[in-house]
Amino acid sequence: MHIGIPQETRVGETRVAATPETVKKYVAQGHKVTVQSGAGLRASLPDGTYESAGAHIGTAAQAFGAELVLKVRSPDEDELAQMKPGAVLVGMLNPFDAENKARMAAAGITAFALEAAPRTTRAQSMDVLSSQANIAGYKAVLVAAHYYQRFMPMLMTAAGTVKAARVLILGAGVAGLQAIATAKRLGAVIEASDVRPAVKEQIESLGGKFLDVPFITDEEREIAQGVGGYARPMPPDWMRRQAELVHERARQADIIITTALIPGRQAPVLLQEATVREMKPGSVVVDLAAAQGGNCPLTVADEVVERHGVTFVGHTNLASMVAADASALYARNVLDFLKLVIDKEGQFTLNLEDDIVAACLMTRREEEALAC
Ligand code: NAI
Repeated sequence: MHIGIPQETRVGETRVAATPETVKKYVAQGHKVTVQSGAGLRASLPDGTYESAGAHIGTAAQAFGAELVLKVRSPDEDELAQMKPGAVLVGMLNPFDAENKARMAAAGITAFALEAAPRTTRAQSMDVLSSQANIAGYKAVLVAAHYYQRFMPMLMTAAGTVKAARVLILGAGVAGLQAIATAKRLGAVIEASDVRPAVKEQIESLGGKFLDVPFITDEEREIAQGVGGYARPMPPDWMRRQAELVHERARQADIIITTALIPGRQAPVLLQEATVREMKPGSVVVDLAAAQGGNCPLTVADEVVERHGVTFVGHTNLASMVAADASALYARNVLDFLKLVIDKEGQFTLNLEDDIVAACLMTRREEEALAC
């Protein structure tokens, strides 16, 4: 097949969907690969590295004109117009964006949104949410350290002792756990909360303290299990009890990193304005849910703002700030997914019996939008 790797054009997007490592594998499988000139530059991958891996360097039109187009983010309308009807598109296409889905269906392309892959063992190597959330969790701590006006570790110096920073992590999934691990390496004292009690052990094994909000009803216990590896909105009474605990712990915290998401919905509010008012001046909040409305109503997406003496960081694409490794891991996710839709002869094949393929399929060339 002819595989195209366009340059990402969305503001702030620095990642690229294939690296020389994965291009080499596509070429070895007999595919022709066209990389748009400059596509990897912001991930420290100049054109020459792709050429050495066997790719042709071309224009945007040549990359979008391929039979199989690999992207990080959804193409915009102009980019979509450059794709051939019947072509296949793979990327993080946002399966919950109905408008975008309709656009791709109208363009007559077969599109796969990798975020929709099920959270099963077999899908792990192609789980883009995990590979990118892991990076976001790491970078969130470094960004917090950057805005925080004090040290993270406890230091004993001739000029006196410096106290370790207290870090509160709300949502201990992939990003939250990596944030705990990273903050721990920097010497912080860590507390973390999640709806899933199963994470207690994981938090503790990373050196954090689990903030338990015990379940009172069977309904709370059942909802907290989530569905398919994802959280569900918790009942209001549990949220109220959690808010009370967060209120108490946030007043002691120096840095708060919030990561709680519920797929396809507004992020849950975990940090109330009334709590922020009582936080220490100079504290920092990094809200990884900023793109989904934020875990704190004071967060402003893609901005750094100060409210009540607290700095709020609302970056929505932290993975892009670690562009080289984020691209390397994403490109491997894509490579693994393609094994499910390219047969031994190197041709595209659509096996809807495969649960991962069926879950990721957003539109197919019959110009019909499918439910993800
Ligand atoms: P996510 O990004 O959707 O959410 C982040 C975290 O926020 C989750 O741990 C969630 O439970 C938590 N959260 C949601 N509402 C909350 C609330 N009201 N209060 C506190 N916390 C709240 O989830 P993520 O990180 O993508 O995955 C969550 C879990 O799914 C992982 O830790 C893992 O156990 C499982 N998983 C399994 C995979 C597999 O088996 N292939 C792959 C990836 C994740």
